[in-house]
Amino acid sequence: FPLKSYNTFGLEAKARYFFEFTEAEDLPYFLANFPDWEKLPLLLLGGGSNLLFVDDFDGLVLHANIPGIQQIREDRNHVWLEVGAGEEWDRFVAYCVHHWLGGLENLSLIPGNVGAAPVQNIGAYGVEVGNYIDLVKGFDLKTFEEYEIPGAECQFAYRDSIFKNQLKGRFVVTSVVFRLDKFMEYKLDYGDLRAEVEKRGGENIHAVREAVIAIRESKLPDPQKVGNGGSFFKNPIVGADVADSLKNEFPAIPVYPTGDGKCKLAAGWMIDQCGWKGYREGDAGVHPQQALVLVNYGKATGKQIAALAMQIEQSVADRFGVLLEPEVNFIGR
Ligand code: EPU
Repeated sequence: FPLKSYNTFGLEAKARYFFEFTEAEDLPYFLANFPDWEKLPLLLLGGGSNLLFVDDFDGLVLHANIPGIQQIREDRNHVWLEVGAGEEWDRFVAYCVHHWLGGLENLSLIPGNVGAAPVQNIGAYGVEVGNYIDLVKGFDLKTFEEYEIPGAECQFAYRDSIFKNQLKGRFVVTSVVFRLDKFMEYKLDYGDLRAEVEKRGGENIHAVREAVIAIRESKLPDPQKVGNGGSFFKNPIVGADVADSLKNEFPAIPVYPTGDGKCKLAAGWMIDQCGWKGYREGDAGVHPQQALVLVNYGKATGKQIAALAMQIEQSVADRFGVLLEPEVNFIGR
């Protein structure tokens, strides 16, 4: 089964088996009718915006393509929406903005599906989705039961959650319940977001969405046009002592304290300093506007992109003594 249209890098990978379903109840029926599934490697696929296929996938791909946006509750301050895992993330953000429901507007234009959002706790411009998730519903392949996991138990952290740890590879998200604000508190302190919002008529939810979209479009390649998986690496988190000594040696290095005595470093800046921005070898390259994004200009293979990523990792380690960890998931190798 060809996966090219299921990964935003646009890689020509294939899966041995592929099962797509549009209702949560379909999954246990399918598995009961295909007992061999237990012997196969599994891949839980969302929008495919964070995957690098280094090889074909010799296993079973499960793709929850469940639609729907439904209001399930409301009080004086909040509205709760339950959203199917297969809804396109940005279509859902647009829906919230259209209805003046606040919280997710800074997360405009992130590629991928709603079901994948809690898995890596997507974040941008000072907001992480975990803060707006009330409940994650899904199916546990190990116990064969449906569960609802409260947001507070999802262990949300920077690009991390329980779904990448204890529940890795076994919990299929079928829907997510978001708690959104009726009274907005815009978060505009990241980079030049506030200035961009002011240019668009000041603080209102539409101006915030438009500003975020404009900033993203100026820095990040559109996966419809140039294959990519967003930020290829995580921004490394280091101890304050490490950050201090880096700051001494490289005064311009961006350092963001995380509040718990640690600091986040800008991986994009370090990669840029190593001279990689705009680099291209064959069809694998580093985006000219954002060094943290690796791109497929057409016919690059997953192996070529992975090889480029390793060279980048090595040069950042040599120059800064910092180990970059991929944000993108490697499939195969
Ligand atoms: N920088 C450079 N050169 C570059 C890239 C960045 O000098 O080529 C500098 C920038 O000037 C800035 C700093 O590095 O001082 C940070 O750059 P930017 O604001 O572009 O954000 P980022 O740290 O590179 C993170 C997220 C993005 C998210 C933005 C905005 C990670 C791994 N990435 O990128 O998320 O959109 O912040 O919040 O945390 C994604 O995860 O796929 C993603 C795109």
